[in-house]
Amino acid sequence: MKAIVVNRWLKGPEELAVSQHVDLPAEPKQGELQVQVKAAGLNFFDTLMIQGKYQIKPPFPFIPGGEFSGIVLKSTVPAFKPGDRVFGSGASYAEVVNVSAANVLPIPRHFSFEQAAGLYITYPTSYAALVLRAQLKAGEYCLVHAAAGGVGSAAVQIAKALGAKVIATAGSKEKLEMAKKLGADVAINYRDKNWTEQVKKATQGHGVDVVYDPVGLVEASTKCTAWNGRILVIGFAQGTIEKVPMNRLLLKNISAVGLHWGAYVKNEPERVPEVWRALFQLFESGKLQPALYHHIYTLDTIPEGLQAINNRSSYAKVIARISQDESKL
Ligand SMILES: NC(=O)c1ccc[n+]([C@@H]2O[C@H](COP(=O)([O-])OP(=O)(O)OC[C@H]3O[C@@H](n4cnc5c(N)ncnc54)[C@H](OP(=O)(O)O)[C@@H]3O)[C@@H](O)[C@H]2O)c1
Repeated sequence: MKAIVVNRWLKGPEELAVSQHVDLPAEPKQGELQVQVKAAGLNFFDTLMIQGKYQIKPPFPFIPGGEFSGIVLKSTVPAFKPGDRVFGSGASYAEVVNVSAANVLPIPRHFSFEQAAGLYITYPTSYAALVLRAQLKAGEYCLVHAAAGGVGSAAVQIAKALGAKVIATAGSKEKLEMAKKLGADVAINYRDKNWTEQVKKATQGHGVDVVYDPVGLVEASTKCTAWNGRILVIGFAQGTIEKVPMNRLLLKNISAVGLHWGAYVKNEPERVPEVWRALFQLFESGKLQPALYHHIYTLDTIPEGLQAINNRSSYAKVIARISQDESKL
């Protein structure tokens, strides 16, 4: 089979290369599935992982990639059988992979492999943040930063589905248009110096009740947050970890609320199926439609896809089609 195999820490995605004759994985162990990967979700952390800069450093040689969709070829668990369409997390830059069945779910009805490949991280992160942590209510104002990005685009749709009034921020005209298409009521370019004023104006002076922040804009956001507002700390896409003067929180009764979705499975495992049940209902109802970057990559062009994420030119979920034809495995 074809796969991207990493044998040493790389300088960046440009050094990734496809190997044409990699051995198929061994028989899956108990608790695992063997999956033909149809599509892979690309993430910024893939770049960190191949550079040896991510918190998880797999032993060499390893197949990178973090999200996939595909077809079960072999199953060792009753919940899945060969032929099932699934998505999940695990190494994904290969035509066939073995993955833990615990990290796999059935593809929601009507979703393509491409749409399903990037669901596993973004949607539960944004749902858990907005619902479990911020308790966002219908009618409230929700400000979503980096609204055209992976987690941001999911947050816009979920906040809208919950009945909130959504104000989106992003850094380009194209991304602001994308945020509007996803359902944002107002879209503001946060490269404008006065963006917090624009947000306040859009709420008729009330301020936003919830801020969803994957960028690192907590301090600035307190300027346009309402009394009793909740600011969700999701990530630091701008590259530095903010230090926020605490008086900013005190003055308006603001709560700063962290969310680490990946740690739920260890700390509150009962919440994981609860979140997925709620999301599947929203997928079925048509209220959530995964947004994809317009260019779909292939195994060979994954480096370009990762570069598009790294230089901030992509939006929504960046996807690569991996294997299309079982006869070629
Ligand atoms: N807490 C959790 O459980 C959890 C789960 C998943 C992801 N995350 C974190 O959330 C963050 C976003 O993840 P994602 O998958 O949505 O990433 P993404 O698709 O790459 O989107 C990130 C967005 O951040 C904005 N941005 C602002 N400043 C940037 C900069 N200096 N460099 C790059 N991007 C910048 C960009 O939008 P504009 O160009 O519009 O500014 C970009 O679209 C990451 O830090 C990730 O680690 C956290």
